[in-house]
Amino acid sequence: MDLTQEIEKRKTFAIISHPDAGKTTLTEKLLLFGGAIREAGTVKGKKSNKFATSDWMKVEQERGISVTSSVMQFDFDGYKINILDTPGHEDFSEDTYRTLMAVDSAVMVIDAAKGIEPQTLKLFKVCRMRGIPIFTFINKLDRVGKEPFELLEEIESTLEIETYPMTWPVGMGQSFFGIINRKDRTINPYREEERLQLTDDYELQDNHPIEADEAFQTAVEEFMLVEEAGDDFDREKIATGDLTPVFFGSALSTFGIEEFLDTYVDFAPMPTTRKTKDDGEIIPTDDAFRGFIFKIQANMDPRHRDRLAFMRIVSGKFTRGMDATLARTGRKSKVTRATMFMADDTETVNEAYAGDIIGLYDTGTYQIGDTLHSPDARKFEFEALPQFTPELFMKVSAKNVMKQKHFYKGIEQLVQEGTIQYYKTIHTNQPILGAVGQLQFEVFEHRMKNEYNTDVIMEPIGKKIARWIENEEDITEAMNSPRSNLVLDRYDRKVFLFENEFATRWFTDKFPEIRLYSML
Ligand code: G4P
Repeated sequence: MDLTQEIEKRKTFAIISHPDAGKTTLTEKLLLFGGAIREAGTVKGKKSNKFATSDWMKVEQERGISVTSSVMQFDFDGYKINILDTPGHEDFSEDTYRTLMAVDSAVMVIDAAKGIEPQTLKLFKVCRMRGIPIFTFINKLDRVGKEPFELLEEIESTLEIETYPMTWPVGMGQSFFGIINRKDRTINPYREEERLQLTDDYELQDNHPIEADEAFQTAVEEFMLVEEAGDDFDREKIATGDLTPVFFGSALSTFGIEEFLDTYVDFAPMPTTRKTKDDGEIIPTDDAFRGFIFKIQANMDPRHRDRLAFMRIVSGKFTRGMDATLARTGRKSKVTRATMFMADDTETVNEAYAGDIIGLYDTGTYQIGDTLHSPDARKFEFEALPQFTPELFMKVSAKNVMKQKHFYKGIEQLVQEGTIQYYKTIHTNQPILGAVGQLQFEVFEHRMKNEYNTDVIMEPIGKKIARWIENEEDITEAMNSPRSNLVLDRYDRKVFLFENEFATRWFTDKFPEIRLYSML
């Protein structure tokens, strides 16, 4: 099979949801369908989501460097599908956002009873900004939830995206009868084997007692309405992320999964191009191997310093033992230890193609955002990964003042790696750490101790709204107050840390000439 054919078979997506919506269950069922696992309950990492934050280190230590749950590949219908997990809850961090930079589409899982939840919204916004196609799976139809129209309306208004239901539910909870597949108007019954057929006149082809059922009548009426008044199907809009195909089902009962997968492989994009720093684009089918690092998983075991760098292959083919140049340093080296992630195992990669995610064993060579390319490819670097607006802040200092050198070296390294963001107060240079998730602070503290031999004192300063400033030259000392605290970021750009929404509004009303902006 030639390079283009291999690459066209790849579909790489992130699965996003608010904790407990059913992401793990859906992932598992997708893997079952792909034959990648034989029984449910195999996907690791699930239980660890449920640990309290403080347990995380222990869990990670026990797990060592095994991160099988964060990337998984399986085959379906001739396609090679890569699923990337985006951790929620305590595990939520900048890595979660960066994962979205490595995919070509996203699947959003929504709990039918809860609708759009905060975590979904955050991740979704990053997808929207990147313009990547989004597929929606509304889960837990076997339980009573919100009405389907209410859910669609919620998706449309909160996320500002058009919806196109691919399936439509008949009843829910106890009265859940099944789903109508819009493509061929077959009805897949939840409790029975035989599929039913809906005619062009919205009637059942064969007599079936369900016809008299009120839930069925309502569903058919709703379905008619969707067909008549709903958004038009538009492949182009799916591709740009402006319209989301919506599926209803129950992951736990493996129901609605096949309908989802069939459509997903049809409409999800093959590996897409990636921008470079000098504005050009790299196309996936280009012969030369190229990729970028989007996540570094440190080994929490102090006896093993090695880390795993996750790379998205952007173009060409990776083969084990090949030479690759690290664009940042220009250094060439042989990549011998690389791993690929299967459902319940990792295995050494011999070959991988554009669209795939591989893990490179690393002893401190790589940084987040690094470009790797085959030595014969022209010199270039991929566009930098975006910076995200942190929400949580901590003052940090070294417990032992004699350890200042180690302390700053550690901070510099960990900031470069993307573990945490670094800020400092304007006059006193007091270091402040910023993060999008609490876990980042814990990882920082742990690694400072184990890798840089430095105990740190962390003092929470809580949630803040960080805003950068377009016209820094117009900032005056009077604008700096405890409620609008002016600090510097790692590039010495001025940033306001506002106490809350109210303080932000108060400031913009008082100083309308100051133009504020946020990162992603
Ligand atoms: P997450 O990864 O998004 O956090 O969610 P996860 O799959 O772990 O699912 C959260 C809970 O919801 C689990 O129950 C799971 O069994 C349940 N669930 C997932 N899909 C469905 C569905 O389609 N219908 C119903 N009724 N429940 C579903 P749990 O009790 O928290 O965990 P467990 O004890 O079952 O493992």
